[in-house]
Amino acid sequence: MKSTLAFATLVASVFAAAEVNDVSVNGTPQEDRDGIIGLTRNSTCKNGGKMEMVNVMLDKDEHPDALQLLSRLGRALDDDGVFAVHDNPAWTVIQMNATEECMKVLDGMAEVSVVERETKVQSFVTQKDTAPWGLQRLSNEAGASGDPQGQNFIYSFEDDKLGAGVDVYVIDTGVRVSHAVFGGRAVEGFSFEGTAADGDGHGTHVAGTAAGQRFGVAQNANIIAVKVLGDDGSGSSSNTIAGMNWVINNHIKRKAQPGFVGSIMQMSWGLQTIAATVDQAIEGAIDQGIHVSVAAGNDGADACRISPSHLGGANSAVVTVGSVNITNSVSTFSNVGSCVDIFAPGEKILSAWNVGDTVINFLSGTSMATPMNSGVMATLMQADPAGLGQNPAALKAKLLSMGRKNVIGGNLRGSPNLLLSNGVDGKVPTTSKRSAEERRTVTGSPAAWAKDMVTNLGQRWVIESTDSPVRHF
Ligand SMILES: *[C@@H]1O[C@H](CO)[C@@H](O)[C@H](O)[C@H]1NC(C)=O
Ligand SMILES: *[C@@H]1O[C@H](CO)[C@@H](O)[C@H](O)[C@H]1NC(C)=O
Ligand SMILES: *[C@@H]1O[C@H](CO)[C@@H](O)[C@H](O)[C@H]1NC(C)=O
Repeated sequence: MKSTLAFATLVASVFAAAEVNDVSVNGTPQEDRDGIIGLTRNSTCKNGGKMEMVNVMLDKDEHPDALQLLSRLGRALDDDGVFAVHDNPAWTVIQMNATEECMKVLDGMAEVSVVERETKVQSFVTQKDTAPWGLQRLSNEAGASGDPQGQNFIYSFEDDKLGAGVDVYVIDTGVRVSHAVFGGRAVEGFSFEGTAADGDGHGTHVAGTAAGQRFGVAQNANIIAVKVLGDDGSGSSSNTIAGMNWVINNHIKRKAQPGFVGSIMQMSWGLQTIAATVDQAIEGAIDQGIHVSVAAGNDGADACRISPSHLGGANSAVVTVGSVNITNSVSTFSNVGSCVDIFAPGEKILSAWNVGDTVINFLSGTSMATPMNSGVMATLMQADPAGLGQNPAALKAKLLSMGRKNVIGGNLRGSPNLLLSNGVDGKVPTTSKRSAEERRTVTGSPAAWAKDMVTNLGQRWVIESTDSPVRHF
């Protein structure tokens, strides 16, 4: 599948410039360009000018050989400026420095489906500094204040397997895998640098909401940290591609192992633009049976403008998640529109934090809503491994069919009025295995309360708020 559009968008200025200087190249129909540029290919891709990091996605249908392609460019894997070749059964991506001229050469090659400049990635946490009460400040040693009354919850579920056998790949800033809420179920999988330790907190918080004990939805799922974002919560499209390559190959290995149910890529981040390489990497993962849950983004704008959230809605099996507050209103920060599939709680979410094994914190953002969705996905996969374990389209259909309809207020701006639900609605049959339920009345300082919560992990925790009885999650 040739995607010249993406290339054209990204190097539009290059083509415009070339038009003036080299009409023959620019004016030649695409099928001829390869031959013409090929004459200068070697020197073009070898020699300098302004270099930029690009992701070169190869078209599997052309049976590309990445090393051979590099050598046709006069480059080799161990050259300076050739950083990586990522290969899995769904796709191959070469990450290298290239001049604009070299990008044109690459785009002219039949085996290349997209050439794209590396672009920035940002995690979608928000209101970090205005979290209403104290536990963020607790984690910062800055004292405690605030009102704990709103944290009086019950989590209802029918089946206490809660996602067992499902791998949740938390593609984020890393995860503090030693945190008490993970009970040994979290491991470091991949990192673009050093370890997958979380120097930011975002990934740990997200992982805790997806699958942590007490704070999380799928409390028995496996958590695999895939660190693609730095300790400031930002990163690059190249690193997300590297992380997804690792996930796809690991998923294929895991499929052969006993007890394996399926995989979810939990991705609470986005670009500021659309990137065809990132999109195709995700679509390739879906083709391999991996489920994908992504954040809508926090610009209060249309989720269709950026990758990967624009893959939601009718566009693919990706589930794009927006945020609502405790009174079921669309969060003012949440991206919206037809690319959003479903909304989930994303304000003042309490979960694990990265600075200690018993530290928790409140954060808000579509980043916090997304792992709620990933957690529900994991429980549905576990409940029907044969039907939903490795079938992203079927799981998405099931998830959306279970969503609570028309309970969301606020400015939906073209989004579906659909709120995440695990289907239980608080009415757990007495015959079910609902093993523990606790309604807590919190007294004392938030610090004391937090300590109590993380040291009594034997019990299930909420999600049905007594403040917000309509909403299940
Ligand atoms: C590139 O250079 C190598 C060695 O210099 C040569 O063998 C190869 O044929 C050249 N390829 C093209 C497309 O010009
Ligand atoms: C790659 O390009 C970047 C600019 O995008 C430059 O800073 C870096 O030094 C280059 N690295 C190599 C090895 O060419
Ligand atoms: C939820 O959001 C709506 C709309 O912005 C706002 O009016 C309401 O006060 C919010 N509720 C809470 C509990 O923050």
